[in-house]
Amino acid sequence: MKAVVLVGGFGTRLRPLTLTTPKQMLPVIDRPMLEHVIGGLGAHGVDEVTLSLGYKEDVFREAYPAGECARVALKYAVEPEPLDTAGAVRFAAEAAGIDETFIVINGDVFTDLDVRSVWDRHHEVGAAGTIALTPVDDPSRYGVVPTDEAGKVLGFVEKPPRDEAPTNWINAGTYVLEPSVLAGIDPGRRVSIERETFPAIVADGGLWAVQSDAYWVDAGTPDTYLQIQMDLLDGVRGQPVEGVSADAMIADGATVERSVVMAGASVAAGAVVRDAVISFGATVRAGATVEGSVIGPNAVIGERAKLTAMTMIGDGAVVDAGRALEGGRLPESD
Ligand code: GDD
Ligand code: MG
Repeated sequence: MKAVVLVGGFGTRLRPLTLTTPKQMLPVIDRPMLEHVIGGLGAHGVDEVTLSLGYKEDVFREAYPAGECARVALKYAVEPEPLDTAGAVRFAAEAAGIDETFIVINGDVFTDLDVRSVWDRHHEVGAAGTIALTPVDDPSRYGVVPTDEAGKVLGFVEKPPRDEAPTNWINAGTYVLEPSVLAGIDPGRRVSIERETFPAIVADGGLWAVQSDAYWVDAGTPDTYLQIQMDLLDGVRGQPVEGVSADAMIADGATVERSVVMAGASVAAGAVVRDAVISFGATVRAGATVEGSVIGPNAVIGERAKLTAMTMIGDGAVVDAGRALEGGRLPESD
């Protein structure tokens, strides 16, 4: 099975972390988000991935120069300009020479979903496209997908107002597509798969869906980027994972609870780190508190600083001693 993985977005909701690192290259516990995602695809039988690249494409190519990621063969397709989700799929499929049934994945989705079950159902019903669906409490920030009892898609509404969503089953960002779908995507302009391509296939009666309640999180927001890591620590997806790297330095007298402390990071005496992520090489100085927040790589948290309520500190940023930030962003960005 071949897959196109979309990783070309700007990751605006995760600024300032994404000012230096594209979203799917942000670390999750011990390696980039992308390695977890591609590892999962590989485990379900995907043997070739084409990365659909745009924003900061060089970061991906430098990280995987040998054309392999998580033991899956890797190809690159770099858009000359952002083509949006469908434009990107067409561009990448052409660049990779894909002329058979293929898979498309949003690169920021953390899931235990079995893509092969979607693949099998796709062939069973002879669909043009088949999408995986997952149930959520608030469908308004996703693509909402009503179906009939057999799983035929009746409509596709991207990000409707909360009280207008026809169902709470949403697009899980995992698709199986026939190459014929590509011909319906205009080349060379921005085309959204959610707003243009899927509604058009629905009108032709060719879009099907498979519901799944497997673990599923879109890690593209501060809260969910933190959540996927807490879920791994808590054992929500199997055996609990150890969050503190053997190559982190935790001083005697430091308190580290339910947190990720990556390699090369240090937490000094009297500091408190709770429900938080301290990325590679970051420093938490004596007496500082980091709670429910994310500290980017090589950032420095000054003595007695207090960071709470989903504060995010960017790559290499320095928080002055004694400073308090509640839901803050440093450097500030919009
Ligand atoms: N190559 C390329 N070019 N990739 C892009 C572009 C582009 O122009 N725009 C976005 N992407 C990539 C992003 O990097 C991300 O991996 C994926 O496409 C989806 O973009 P997001 O920005 O994460 O979309 P979303 O989370 O708001 O909504 C999408 O995902 C939801 C599920 O997680 C939609 O597909 C929803 O319908 C869906 O429910
Ligand atoms: Mg997303």
